Amino acid sequence: MNNRTFAIIKPDAVKNGNTGKIYDRILKADFKILCAKLLRMTVGQAEGFYAIHKERPFFNELTEFMSSGACMVLALEKDDAVNEWRKTIGATNPDDADLGTIRKDFATNVQENAVHGSDSNENAEKEIGFFFSQSELIANK
Ligand code: RTP
Ligand code: MG
Repeated sequence: MNNRTFAIIKPDAVKNGNTGKIYDRILKADFKILCAKLLRMTVGQAEGFYAIHKERPFFNELTEFMSSGACMVLALEKDDAVNEWRKTIGATNPDDADLGTIRKDFATNVQENAVHGSDSNENAEKEIGFFFSQSELIANK
């Protein structure tokens, strides 16, 4: 069982002024924030980050959206972090998301869906490594 996952507060949520409210949800769900930073992805970074989706019809829209403004990237820690964070954020499409989940409360639509969560332990480690150096993670231990 892994205890780390990777999250993004996506550009729609930052633009809509929901960063603080989502931060609060993260803490209330008992995640420890190992590291966080506000940044704006280049299109190239967004393409690299979402490379697993490059054959999907929404890939261009997605990378454009993810590089359209500031987002907050976070490394989170909790027992069974990947599954716990997916439960906290809810389904990809907010119409299908359970009541009380972050996407239910803050997503605009299936694409502008407020937050990202890793889908496996292996991808969590890759995604944390994509945005954070080892020294940044250690500094917050
Ligand atoms: P994420 O990776 O961002 O946590 O989202 P997810 O696992 O719930 O969904 P995934 O299938 O990995 O899709 C990645 C992101 O692509 C956008 N998307 N748009 N237009 C569409 O039908 C569509 N489907 C997905 C969303 O921003 C989704 O979170
Ligand atoms: Mg995904």
